[in-house]
Amino acid sequence: MVSYKELGLVNSRDLFKKAVDGGYAIPAFNFNNMEQLQAIISACVETKSPVILQVSSGARKYANQTLLRYMAQGAVQYAKELGYEIPIVLHLDHGDSFELCKDCIESGFSSVMIDGSHLPYEENIALTKKVVEYAHQHDVTVEGELGILAGIEDDVEAEHHTYTEPDEVVDFVTRTGVDSLAISIGTSHGAFKFTPDQCTRNEDGVLVPPPLRFDILEDIEKLLPGFPIVLHGSSSVPPQYVETINKYGGKLSDSIGIPEEQLRRAAKSAVCKINIDSDGRLAMTAAVREVFANKPAEFDPRKYLGPARDALKELYMHKTEKVLGSAGKA
Ligand code: G3H
Ligand code: 13P
Ligand code: ZN
Repeated sequence: MVSYKELGLVNSRDLFKKAVDGGYAIPAFNFNNMEQLQAIISACVETKSPVILQVSSGARKYANQTLLRYMAQGAVQYAKELGYEIPIVLHLDHGDSFELCKDCIESGFSSVMIDGSHLPYEENIALTKKVVEYAHQHDVTVEGELGILAGIEDDVEAEHHTYTEPDEVVDFVTRTGVDSLAISIGTSHGAFKFTPDQCTRNEDGVLVPPPLRFDILEDIEKLLPGFPIVLHGSSSVPPQYVETINKYGGKLSDSIGIPEEQLRRAAKSAVCKINIDSDGRLAMTAAVREVFANKPAEFDPRKYLGPARDALKELYMHKTEKVLGSAGKA
């Protein structure tokens, strides 16, 4: 058993309290390789932002769970070397079983998500409570989920959103003891969050998706004042990445994300953790495609992964400074 405390990591409890009180959200960025991790850490150190490093079960399979844990441990030292100590959480994203959560806790994770959102309500409660009881013995914080996001979540696909029922939230939080709760108010995973026919066009001809269900968020805030709320599926799918990808041979059409001003609004409320993965994938892909198109003779991975890392860092700095408001809060 390795405690996250020995690795220099922190759990999310204090970070969330400060974020809710301060009207900003902590970025939760997914990683599965070195360049992503370097970009996340250097961007958050430079903007003095706390950060949540997220690892999905797919990432653990891809990169090897032991290697990822050591990378996160290395990230703590890397941040110090860069000259400014920021709080770093190592979080399991979309844990789907008690065993996976336990395994992560025992290998140094400081926070886990148990995602029982696809289960019947009582089963979600029972599973989440079991994880909370174990995690809290080790001072590890737990995120649960109520409501189902449309789209693909790991291997589960839902055609429509099942919005979170505010009436269930108090019961769920009280009976499970979770430290934070992911809710469904219109976000979804991936780069295709809305179809064009769900959107309207503004005066510049840009597709504008339907707004998030802030009414549900407000109802939840009234019922549970100050309780930390999490938004998954919060990539904005910046058009410049999609254009670059398509310009250099990619084929992404109709990719639409959550407008940044809606995320800014959410970050000012009880939403204190905002999950972003797809935007990083798009930034990296755009940068790599550009190098390959302009320098077809290049075959040193550093020459295309380096620009991808630079693009990621710029993206993450933008998120902490201009979207989540977490810059300067570390
Ligand atoms: O919510 C999903 C995250 O973007 C992680 O995706 O399961 O493909 O690693 P993944
Ligand atoms: P995006 O696909 O919108 O980046 O969401 C990521 C996420 O929710 C990870 O849990
Ligand atoms: Zn998610």
